[in-house]
Amino acid sequence: MKRIVILISGRGSNMEALLQAQLPAAIVCVLSNVASAKGLEIARAHGVPTEVVDHREFATREAFDAALLARVNAHAPDLVVLAGFMRILTPTFVAPCKGRLINIHPSLLPAFQGVNTHRRALDEGVKIHGCTVHFVTPELDRGPIIAQAAVPVLEDDTEAILAARVLEQEHRLLPAVVRWYVEDQVQLVGPRVRTGHVRHADHFLCSPPPP
Ligand code: GRF
Repeated sequence: MKRIVILISGRGSNMEALLQAQLPAAIVCVLSNVASAKGLEIARAHGVPTEVVDHREFATREAFDAALLARVNAHAPDLVVLAGFMRILTPTFVAPCKGRLINIHPSLLPAFQGVNTHRRALDEGVKIHGCTVHFVTPELDRGPIIAQAAVPVLEDDTEAILAARVLEQEHRLLPAVVRWYVEDQVQLVGPRVRTGHVRHADHFLCSPPPP
């Protein structure tokens, strides 16, 4: 059975979605850079071991990344999932994890890389927004895209309302991608990702909908 390590920094709702998904895999550790992360309590309640590597104890990003990598590798994971992990990782961590490190990002990449994605989507007036699961490369939010889920942006949306609509999709998308990964359905072919036997939707989202 494949082994998964999840990295979080806060609330942990995406991590919780993974814990509830009954994946055919073992979630062997949830690791956080923040000792007070709410998600750690959720992981413990699910009986999953937790660990903390506090970035503030390290003088440089590289030193933190080397320590984090050692702790992650101690679990011999087949897959490392960044589920709301709010630190930028350097090549020290990313390079050795190539092809087995994925992230969930709350926008339809490559639009709205970085933070405050929902606010920026509203400011730009986009009609469709969403979330992306992608392989992590040293370039922030630019790794090969595995899957995306889209939602409409509605006229009365606030940042909080739009964030909640996207988050609902994150909780569907991330477990789906992790399931495909552990079932060997995700293949990195050059800069692009193939998803094996995964059935593709034959509908499309148009917002606002045509008459
Ligand atoms: C999610 O929106 C995720 O896409 C982003 O950070 C947020 C984490 O939320 N990377 P949670 O901790 O999973 O609830």
